[in-house]
Order: sequence, then structure tokens, then C-alpha cells
Amino acid sequence: MALAFKRILLKLSGEALAGDKGFGIDSIRIAEIAAELKEVRDLGVEIAIVVGGGNFFRGVAEQAKEMNRVSADQMGMLATVINALALQDALEKAGAYTRVQSAIEMNEICEPFIGRRALRHLEKGRIVIFAAGTGNPYFSTDSAAALRANEIKADVIMKATKVEGIYDADPVRVKDAKMFDHISYMDVVKKGLKVMDLTAITMAQENNIPIVIFNLNKRGNIKRVVTGEKVGSLINA
Ligand code: GTP
Repeated sequence: MALAFKRILLKLSGEALAGDKGFGIDSIRIAEIAAELKEVRDLGVEIAIVVGGGNFFRGVAEQAKEMNRVSADQMGMLATVINALALQDALEKAGAYTRVQSAIEMNEICEPFIGRRALRHLEKGRIVIFAAGTGNPYFSTDSAAALRANEIKADVIMKATKVEGIYDADPVRVKDAKMFDHISYMDVVKKGLKVMDLTAITMAQENNIPIVIFNLNKRGNIKRVVTGEKVGSLINA
């Protein structure tokens, strides 16, 4: 099958793993996502994943507002490690080979992030899960996704969401919100669209890595994007 993207960086939010529960990890949902990823891997796509941690803890959330921001962000980074291990387990159950690399060293649990080594894993067909964000407070996991995408020279950043793509207003609240099929990095910034934070958009723009925002809750969408079907919203220059 012809591939539009050979090496992808998939950004999964922590919430994506929580399914309808909204908190923690839904074992059925994570197995579904893993099965879909295994299918895409079998097409020959090299898959790297940056996973968020919001299903457990988010540094900028209400629950953390009395906390020191650095500590809160560090808790959020640790939450991403929990998700990375859960995802690794689910992917291995689905028959995929995986490696987890963390931006914060915790050698008893996973490998440290080493860019060249991650590339090697990808070339060998392993799905690489990047945990602990960028390892720094004040950076979102979206920024981590853009950073890692640059480092591994991904062909695309695929950001999984609960809606079809990027809209001119919140599609959950505004009934006739209009979806963009295509929009430039500049316009995302100018229009103040909150699809990814500015750091992430700027970093993707730097190396001209396209970003596809798509609905993960529609089965088969990851495959549709990598095979070049028009799914979701495309951000590029
Ligand atoms: P290749 O050498 O390219 O085949 O990759 P590899 O990952 O198989 O190499 P290696 O022999 O270094 O790793 C074997 C296993 O140990 C893999 O599951 C790695 O993820 C794991 N591993 C390697 N380094 C670390 C580490 O620092 N901490 C932990 N917890 N596991 C590690």
C-alpha cells in the first residue's frame, strides 16, 4: 500500500487512554488503540508516540493550582510514564515490538531518551514511546511531540483528538463551527486557535513538519491519515 507518511510521530493525550471514564486507563480502549497501531505498523509505517498524562495529573489544572508549578509539572511528567508503560503493555499484547524512552532517567523502568537509539528502534520496526514530556517543567506534551518529531525527522505529527479536526470555534459548544481542511502554521497562530500550544506549532514550522489533527475515536483514522486519505485538518506552511 502506498504511504503518504513513512515515519509518524503520534501525539496521544492521556485522556485518549481513559476512554469514557475520563480518568485513569480504560483497558478496553487502550487495547483498541494498540490493535489499530499494530495494523498501521504492519503497513510498514515507523511509529513513535508521545503520550500525555492528563488522565492522571496535569500541572496546569485546577487540582494543581495551589501547587508549585515546577512540582506540578513534574507530577504530570511522571503521569506520562504510567501511560507509556500501559501503552507498551497493550501494544505488546497486540503483537507489536516496543521500546519506552523517558526524558527523565529512570533506568529500572525504561530506557533514557537517546535520539540515535530511538531511530535505530524505529528502523527495526519497534514502536517507540516517548515518556516524561521534554523532561522540563513549563513545556506541554504537545511541545514534547514537536521536539521529538524534529529529533527523529518524522514525516508528520499526528495529533489525536476527540473531534474531527480544527474548527473556527469550539465544535462541542458552537453548533455551526466550521472545520478547516487545511490551514497554515501562521494562521493557527494569528487566529489564536487552541489546537496545540505556540511552542509546538513554532517548532513544527521550524523544520516544516506537517501536523494532522484528527479524530482518534473513529476506528481506522490513523491508517487513513498515513495512506493519504483526507482526514482531519492539515497544518503546514
Ligand atoms: P538493539 O541493540 O538495536 O537490538 O536494541 P535493544 O533495545 O534490543 O538493545 P538492548 O540490548 O540495549 O536492550 C535490550 C532490552 O533492554 C530492551 O528491552 C531495552 O528497552 C532494555 N533496556 C535498554 N536500556 C535500558 C535501560 O537503561 N533501562 C531499562 N529499564 N531497560 C533498558
